[in-house]
Amino acid sequence: MCGIVAYIGHREAYPVVLKGLKRLEYRGYDSTGVALLNGGSLKVYKKKGKVAELEDFVLGKDLKSHISIGHTRWATHGEPNDRNAHPQLSGDGKLAMVHNGIIENYAQLKQELLNKGHQFTSDTDTEVLIHFIQEIKSSNQCSTEEAVRIALKRVVGAYVILIVDEDDPDTLIAARKGSPLVIGVGKGEHFLASDASPIVEYTKEVVYVNDYEIAIVKADELILKNISNEIQTPYIQKLDMELAAIEKGGYAHFMLKEIFEQPQTIFDSLRGRLDAKGGKLTLGGLREHMDLLKEANRIIIVACGTSWHAGLVAEYMIEELCRIPVEVEYASEFRYRNPVVGKGDVIIAVSQSGETADTLVAMESAKEKGAIILGVCNVVGSSIARLSNGGVYTHAGPEIGVASTKAFTAQLAVLSLIGLKIAQEKGTITAQRFQHLLDELESVSEKVATALQLNAQIKKIAEKYKDARDFLYLGRGYNFPIALEGALKLKEISYIHAEGYPAAEMKHGPIALVDEQLPVVFVATKDSYYEKIVSNIQEIKARKGKVLAVTTEGDQVIPAMADDVIVVPEADELVAPIISVIPLQLLAYHIGVLKGYDVDKPRNLAKSVTVE
Ligand code: AGP
Ligand code: GLU
Repeated sequence: MCGIVAYIGHREAYPVVLKGLKRLEYRGYDSTGVALLNGGSLKVYKKKGKVAELEDFVLGKDLKSHISIGHTRWATHGEPNDRNAHPQLSGDGKLAMVHNGIIENYAQLKQELLNKGHQFTSDTDTEVLIHFIQEIKSSNQCSTEEAVRIALKRVVGAYVILIVDEDDPDTLIAARKGSPLVIGVGKGEHFLASDASPIVEYTKEVVYVNDYEIAIVKADELILKNISNEIQTPYIQKLDMELAAIEKGGYAHFMLKEIFEQPQTIFDSLRGRLDAKGGKLTLGGLREHMDLLKEANRIIIVACGTSWHAGLVAEYMIEELCRIPVEVEYASEFRYRNPVVGKGDVIIAVSQSGETADTLVAMESAKEKGAIILGVCNVVGSSIARLSNGGVYTHAGPEIGVASTKAFTAQLAVLSLIGLKIAQEKGTITAQRFQHLLDELESVSEKVATALQLNAQIKKIAEKYKDARDFLYLGRGYNFPIALEGALKLKEISYIHAEGYPAAEMKHGPIALVDEQLPVVFVATKDSYYEKIVSNIQEIKARKGKVLAVTTEGDQVIPAMADDVIVVPEADELVAPIISVIPLQLLAYHIGVLKGYDVDKPRNLAKSVTVE
C-alpha cells in the first residue's frame, strides 16, 4: 500500500524519484508528492491523483536537488486531496516526511501535540508523526536521527518513514516497522524504495531493512542502527530481477502481459522441483519440516484475496492427497478471533507480495502460539518470506497489475507440489497416481498456452456481456474457488457486481437473482462433479438465465445447453483450476478495458495492502 522512493547521490534526484514513483504507482495511486532538498532549501510539491498529475504540476518549477523523497499514497487517514498528500511537514517546516502505513495511536499523539500548541494542516496520521518527531527534537535539543528513535518507541502501528531535514541537507533518515523498505547501494549514491523495481536499473546490490531498524543514509555512506542505537551490519544481497520483467514489453497493460506470461511463470515455478520423467519431486524449503508436516494434526492456510482462493484449492487437494485436515482462513479474521492453534499445527501463509499486513500479523500470532509457519510467497526477501520457518517460492516474477493473475496460477502450481510431496512422504498416494499427477503438472504450462489462444473469442464474449449489471460465477469442487476468483477479478477491474458461489449452493438463495438479464458463468470442466453441475446449468436455463460455460474439449452436453462456451484442454481435476481460471482472467480483463477503466490500477485498490 503506497509506494515510497528516495534518492541521494550525484545525479539529479527528481527524475530518479519520479521514475521510481511510476514504477511503484501500482501500490497506491490516489495522490503523489515529492520533497527536494537543494543545499539548505526544501521544496515540496504534491498533488491529488496519479504521478502524471504531479508531473504536470511541477512543470517550470525549480527541481534542482541531489536528495529527494517521493510518495504515491493509498489513503487511510483523510481523503485523497492535495493537503493530505505526502510529504507532510513538521510544524517548523524543516522536516519533510513520506510514510507508508498507519500510526495506530495517532489520535492520542495528536491530542498531546495540540495541547502543546501544534497546528495541523492535514487529516493524516503522518503529519502527527512528523510533528511529534520535531517536538522531541526541539525539546531534547537532539538530532533528527535521535528524535526518530525516541519517537518510534512510542509509535504503535506499521510504517516505513523517510525524512529529509533542511538543517542536514546531506542525510536521509529512514525507519521501518512492518512495511517494506529496500535500499539500493550504488557508487556514491543510494536508492530507497518500497520494492526493488525503482532500483533495479541502477544497481543490483540491495539491503532489505529489518523491522525496528533506522537507516542513516548519505551519498557514500549507509549506517543501519537498531532502535537501541546499536550499529547493525547491512547485509548486501544481489538482486535477482531484470528490468524487462517490470516493463510492459509491447502489451497494452501489465495485466494482459502477466496473463500471457503464465505458461512461462508456471513452468518457472515447477522448474528444478518437478522431474516427471525421473518420477521425482524436490522441495528444498520443506525438507527440514517434512517430519512435522507428515505428523501435522492440521494445516491452516492463511491468506487474503486471490491468495486465499489459491488456499481453498489447496485445501481440497491436501485433504484428498494427504488425509490431513486443512482449514483455510482469511488472515484478518484468524488473527483476532483467538483461534485454537499450537504445536502440531502447521500454518501455510500464501501471499504474492509477501507484505500483506493481515497475513503477517496472522503469522506472528500463530508463531507466538508455537505453530510452525511455511510461506508460499512470490517476493524473495519479503517480510512474509522472512517470517516463515521454511516454504516454497512461487517464481512468477514481479506482478505489477493490481489484479493478481500469474501469481495465482503459480501459487496453485506450488501448492499442488506441496500436497504431492507430503502425500508421497506420508505414503497416502499410490505410486501410479503420484506419477500421473507429476505428468499432469508437467503438461499444464502447454495447456495454459492453448487456453490463451481463446483470447479473441473471449473478447467477443466480453463485448456481449459488458453491460450486465451483475454476474454470478458458479463452480463445484476444485472449480468452486475458481468461481470465486473469476468473480473477484471481474469486480476488481470492471466494477461490475459479481458473486462466486458453489454451484449447488446457488439453489439455496442466489437462484432468486436469476432472470434473462443475469449472466451466469459456470466453471464446468470434466471432473467428478460433472454430472451434478450439468443439472445446475439446467436449473439456471429453466429460469431463463444466460449461461456462459467453461468446458472441456470433447464435451457435447454443456455446449448444447449454454449460450456461450469456452473450451479448454482436459486435465486431471487437481490440476484443472490452473487452466480453467485463464478464460475468467481474460473475460474480466476485456470487460474492464471495454468499459474504459484503468485495469492495471483499478480504483480504490492497491497492489500490496500493508495496513490491517
Ligand atoms: C487480487 O487480485 C487482489 N488485488 C488481492 O485480493 C490480493 O490477492 C490480496 O490483497 C492478497 O495479496 P498478497 O497475495 O500479496 O498477500
Ligand atoms: N496513513 C497514511 C495516510 O493516510 C499513509 C498511507 C499510505 O501508506 O499511503 O496518509
